[in-house]
Amino acid sequence: MNTALITGGLGFIGSNIVKQLIEKKIVNKCIILDSYTGYVNPLKKNYADFRKLRFSSFKKIIVERGDAKDFSLVFKILKRYKPEYIFHTAAVPLAKIDNLNAKEAKDGSIDTTTNILESVNFLKGTFKKYDLKRFIYFSSSMVYGDFKKKQASEEDTLKPKEVYGSMKLAGEIVTKGLCGFYNIPYTIIRPSAVYGPTDMNNRVTQIFINKAFKGETINIQGKNEKLDFTFVEDLANGAIKAGINKNGINQTFNITTGKGETLLKFVKILKKHFKNLNYKITRRDSFRPKRGTLSITKAKKLIKYKPNFSLEKGIDKYINFLKSLR
Ligand SMILES: NC(=O)c1ccc[n+]([C@@H]2O[C@H](COP(=O)([O-])OP(=O)(O)OC[C@H]3O[C@@H](n4cnc5c(N)ncnc54)[C@H](O)[C@@H]3O)[C@@H](O)[C@H]2O)c1
Repeated sequence: MNTALITGGLGFIGSNIVKQLIEKKIVNKCIILDSYTGYVNPLKKNYADFRKLRFSSFKKIIVERGDAKDFSLVFKILKRYKPEYIFHTAAVPLAKIDNLNAKEAKDGSIDTTTNILESVNFLKGTFKKYDLKRFIYFSSSMVYGDFKKKQASEEDTLKPKEVYGSMKLAGEIVTKGLCGFYNIPYTIIRPSAVYGPTDMNNRVTQIFINKAFKGETINIQGKNEKLDFTFVEDLANGAIKAGINKNGINQTFNITTGKGETLLKFVKILKKHFKNLNYKITRRDSFRPKRGTLSITKAKKLIKYKPNFSLEKGIDKYINFLKSLR
């Protein structure tokens, strides 16, 4: 029986990975290890907890609540379920929070990764038959720092300029080093500006859409600020392809739409749905790297990844989801 362990599986990206793994019958069972952490003040007006919606229809999941840094817990889960794939999405996922809490950022990216890989190695040592087919580490486009070229590609120099990107990169290094030493096949995924139904971390796309629903003015920080917005289903699909395909072994992939778009373009698409929407443009956050398009040529070639959602189509699906809750 094929089993996958998804750390952070109650989260926005992790839950979409679980959904597709089960629906596409890639595995029979998903084990979720999640600390059930929230990053947005739940007492804030209009706070919506989408976590129960993420899994309401699934039967083939087991949820273990706890911390991916906890050796005895992770080892117990590995020993019991012997997953063939580990999708490691658990981390403090917001640059704004990580940049204020370097220790938590390190715990999330470095310590969890080290702990899981050491636990896998320990299990391989005790149960010779145990075979982890792949460890899939979720990094970020923030590892590039300011994009120097029209498109950031996997072999570009990595120069993160803040805490979040630095820790994400450190997690990549730990992944490569420990997997090499312990002989564990790995894949590294670099997503960017992921958006879509059930996001609840108050990232820019969610803030814009919520403001549009409330008829409030949107504040666009940076006229030319570009992001490679990626619909969450595309990311989950690409990460799974990379994680299960032999061509993905010991490789790093940008998994995005492959097209940088301005925040202004995002708002203009929203305006088609909300005719009276107003916006103003202010200065960009200086700590943020100047980003844009990530090249997905490698993913297209090696794992036949093809994004299905244009920004228009993704925003449409996201808005319909939010409307269905009203
Ligand atoms: N959303 C994006 O735009 C984006 C872009 C690039 C990279 N990423 C990366 O993707 C991953 C998932 O992000 P997300 O948007 O789904 O965030 P999320 O907050 O929705 O999900 C993260 C989940 O991990 C859990 N978690 C955190 N620390 C844990 C720990 N130590 N042990 C166990 N569980 C823990 C949380 O409880 C949460 O459910 C993160 O590693 C993030 O850095 C996200």
